[in-house]
Amino acid sequence: MTTSEQASAPTMITGPASPTPVCWVNGSWTSMSEYGLTVATQGLHYGTGVFEGIRAYWSEQDTCAYIARLPEHVARLLESCRLVRIDLGLTASEIQDVIMELVERNAFSGDLYIRPVAFKSRLGPGTPFGVGLNGVEDLFAVYATPMPRRERLATLRCGVSSWRRTPSDCVPARAKITGSYVNVALAVDEARAAGLDDAILLNTGGTVSEASTTNVFAVSRGVLVTPSLDSDILAGQTRACVLEIAGDLGMTTTERPLTVSELYTADEVFLTGTGHEVVAVGEINGRPIGDGSPGPTTAEIFDTYRSAVLREVAGHHHDWTTKVLLPESPQPSVAPSEGVA
Ligand SMILES: Cc1ncc(COP(=O)(O)O)c(C=O)c1O
Repeated sequence: MTTSEQASAPTMITGPASPTPVCWVNGSWTSMSEYGLTVATQGLHYGTGVFEGIRAYWSEQDTCAYIARLPEHVARLLESCRLVRIDLGLTASEIQDVIMELVERNAFSGDLYIRPVAFKSRLGPGTPFGVGLNGVEDLFAVYATPMPRRERLATLRCGVSSWRRTPSDCVPARAKITGSYVNVALAVDEARAAGLDDAILLNTGGTVSEASTTNVFAVSRGVLVTPSLDSDILAGQTRACVLEIAGDLGMTTTERPLTVSELYTADEVFLTGTGHEVVAVGEINGRPIGDGSPGPTTAEIFDTYRSAVLREVAGHHHDWTTKVLLPESPQPSVAPSEGVA
């Protein structure tokens, strides 16, 4: 496995899995292998859906999982839903309970990636065929898949994409809208075709927006800089944690528009996201960042973030994680699917 392949490791499904994984679909627990969707699903046609990506870390010491930033992810999911008129019919705390129960029911004992997804499903009675948000039923599902943490800080080779980040006045970047990920898919495809790990996208104003599924940070002359929220970025949960960690460590941080030339000349560049956590960028468009290996600030941020989400230091940001207790006895059998597809 090359460094590049190792760097992409979190997208692989490996590790301990529940033998019969269950997911939650519109109020029922159902088997992952049994659930199907109709080809008439509206969100599939028009990208009218929203989702979240949430990580749970397994603690050997406490023999339980801890979910990172659970209330914050659920709050962002609900905001995304409001933008595309999806009504989950659940409160934030009920959604958190579903996610916790999902982890419990699957009795996973390893790191996980949890995917809540909500989308427009069937045209309601009297709603004409075609694009729209009103009069279309909503479907909300949550499932999880093993995603082991990386053993150490990874280094990615990136390129600046020829695809610009969709401007927020066209599709709001602050929301995780399924359809908007075509933008990212094109950029990732271009990067991989060029033998790179990931793409950094500029916004239509020509400044740095974000990488495919991560926020961008640069260390320049002792200052940690990240594109401001008006740079057509997703306000990442990991980004928020890193800004807080940097403050704790006494670093000067700035959120402002960032140019590509600043990336090329930065001492360090790193990316942050739930799946990738913190990863170093070793080169951009064939130009080494620093000496091409992770710099000291990136390494310190990676270590501190990891130890916070793994609750390694007593009292240190324990409010970032929510404890999930595994059931002592097996859960009752899965309810049959309601056939909502
Ligand atoms: C487009 C995009 N930007 C940034 C991020 C990082 O956000 P977070 O740290 O909340 O995972 C993600 C991942 O959710 C993303 O999809």
